[in-house]
Amino acid sequence: LNNGLALTPPMGWMSWQRFRCIIDCDQFPDECISEKLFKTAVDYMVNDGYKDAGYEYVIIDDCWLEKNRTTDGKLQADKKRFPNGMKHLSDYVHSKGLKFGIYEDYGNKTCEGYPGILGHMKEDAETFASWGVDYVKLDGCYSDIWDMETGYPEFGKYLNNTGRPIVYSCSWPAYQEYAGMKINFQLLVNYCNLWRNYNDIQDSYSSLTDIMDYFAMKQDYWQQYAGPGHWNDPDMLIIGNFGLSYEQSKAQMAVWAILAAPLLMSMDFRTIQPEYKAILQNKNIIAVNQDKLGIQGRRVFKDKDIDIWARPTEPIVNGYHSFAIAFISRRSDGAPYKYNATLKHIGLFNPAGYQIKDMYLNDVDEFKMTILYPELPLVARIPPTGCVFFRAKSLAHTEL
Ligand code: GLA
Repeated sequence: LNNGLALTPPMGWMSWQRFRCIIDCDQFPDECISEKLFKTAVDYMVNDGYKDAGYEYVIIDDCWLEKNRTTDGKLQADKKRFPNGMKHLSDYVHSKGLKFGIYEDYGNKTCEGYPGILGHMKEDAETFASWGVDYVKLDGCYSDIWDMETGYPEFGKYLNNTGRPIVYSCSWPAYQEYAGMKINFQLLVNYCNLWRNYNDIQDSYSSLTDIMDYFAMKQDYWQQYAGPGHWNDPDMLIIGNFGLSYEQSKAQMAVWAILAAPLLMSMDFRTIQPEYKAILQNKNIIAVNQDKLGIQGRRVFKDKDIDIWARPTEPIVNGYHSFAIAFISRRSDGAPYKYNATLKHIGLFNPAGYQIKDMYLNDVDEFKMTILYPELPLVARIPPTGCVFFRAKSLAHTEL
């Protein structure tokens, strides 16, 4: 969507993956979908380095609404859980230099049964703008799949007509994909800043690998539609929750950087362990994700349960891109597995070579002076179900 927004993949925090539809604040006061939860998220984003790392949007997912609209048909936040209303929360988010996102559904009901926008598209867009919303995720439960290609663009126009810059996240391709339909990606590029392509992520390694495999399977079709202002969205980061080990978390962060995926965290800021936080805040990896060229990478090779993913990035030197290269192991046998890939076999042809840096060995800012040429192997030792993630910076002349 050419609205000047999301020129790099959006970064932020979204409530769904970790907090789902917990609405019982008496029993779970720290976890329920409430003003308190989002203010806490804002404070941690600012005070614990996430904002400085680039995370910007604080996004409320499902279960924030009252079960009914007001008598004059307006959306209203749950009065008990958001006692001061959404404008108040939005002001709080903005006062800390962050941006405010919200969830609605193109249908009669949200997935959890709260009011949808059908019949209220124009006024809901205006309501969001009046609350200072900066990002709308529009889901697709309880709607007619055949209406989506007209309905989603229509709502997008109402958002645009408010005059407020609002990132527009569309879920319609995920529903069409599920129904086996052919998806009109050009329409998505024209009307959405990002879109969910596939199933919801769940808190497990098997869900992560299922999404990675699906994106790899579809990459020849999907990859070309990603770029500044319009991104494929493989769903939230589950790093820092219950289901992924440390090594598996590194794998998700690496592949999401290569896929130019939105980086939408969804963990509990109060309990995340420091080593997982370090993955989410790894500045070299975030720089890859946010690369200005906005080229989505792809799985370039697969052998012995080792997947190699690569993404071309800046700087381009003498016509040769730099690259981010992730070795992902699907093995579970034991010791780190040693694997070699000749650079030219994975798409790196610069005769002047590349400076190589391991992005999870974070102690030094400078590229380590390891220089490799297209004929030479890049060697990785990949822990079971883990990842080794390299930066290969394109060089101007042979440094021998
Ligand atoms: C769908 C979406 C999820 C989440 C839930 C909320 O499943 O795909 O990301 O928003 O609805 O109910």
